[in-house]
Amino acid sequence: MSELSVNHLLGIKYLNKKDIQLIFETADHFKEVINRPIKKVPSLRDITIANLFFENSTRTKLSFELAEKRLSADVINFSASQSSVKKGETLIDTVNNILSMKVDMVVMRHPNPGAGVFLSQHVDASIINAGDGAHEHPTQALLDSYSIRERLGEVRGKNVVIVGDVLHSRVALSNIYALQLQGANVMVCGPKTLLPKYIKDLGVKVETNLRKALNWCDVANMLRVQNERMDISYFPSTREYTQQYGVNKALLNSLDKKITIMHPGPINRGVEITSDVADSDQAIILDQVQNGVAIRMAVIYLLASKIKH
Ligand code: CP
Repeated sequence: MSELSVNHLLGIKYLNKKDIQLIFETADHFKEVINRPIKKVPSLRDITIANLFFENSTRTKLSFELAEKRLSADVINFSASQSSVKKGETLIDTVNNILSMKVDMVVMRHPNPGAGVFLSQHVDASIINAGDGAHEHPTQALLDSYSIRERLGEVRGKNVVIVGDVLHSRVALSNIYALQLQGANVMVCGPKTLLPKYIKDLGVKVETNLRKALNWCDVANMLRVQNERMDISYFPSTREYTQQYGVNKALLNSLDKKITIMHPGPINRGVEITSDVADSDQAIILDQVQNGVAIRMAVIYLLASKIKH
């Protein structure tokens, strides 16, 4: 029987091509399940999962919780803002207290890069990284590639540009690793101030002209400008950013071909993407969200099958 090469999902960096294929094939099965009248399977009745969110989330948190419930796992939710973290309790103490209640798997979002790796080295549970600072967001990259595969047939050979605030983005790094593993050609595009200096070392094309990037690509993944992670100004004004790096319908209509538009959410409508694009048939933003449940069911199911009771 096929199984993942890893016991945790800490980042796409730790996966291989076969892992991604297995996750997609398993997600295909679960996608069929969640389209049935009864959207639930009994697979994980013996598994308890803790969702630990030390940072805000809408899509990822709800999607994981739904995926866990669709698999019949027992689920507990923890939000740092309403917890004893506010009284100074450490991450390890917090997690060990939760694990002493016989929890098998931890899904964690944390503002610090590497928090998931750290946790995996100190606690006895399977860890899924639901976003660690500006480092990785592996399930987002998996659902993004899965959505490209669904829309365009395959990921291999496709030209994908990641546009905008690459510097502060965990989605960008995980997408670069995932897309390259599957044989896509990857470009990043944005103002120089929002492109990390090391980015060329990852083997991606770099472009600062949005029109050139859009004419090259099959898919544009528009990143959110992450104002909350900016302690200085990276561009003169939001208006100027939008003029140079925002996608609107007129710009898309002026291109040589019809490209696919993605966005991980949450959207800054009118900044990196206008509503007439976000809500158009060129955008697969809500497909990404829908596929997130099947992808997360697949990841949880495959990791749970490696847990020894
Ligand atoms: N895409 C994403 O991670 O969204 P949330 O921050 O709402 O989870």
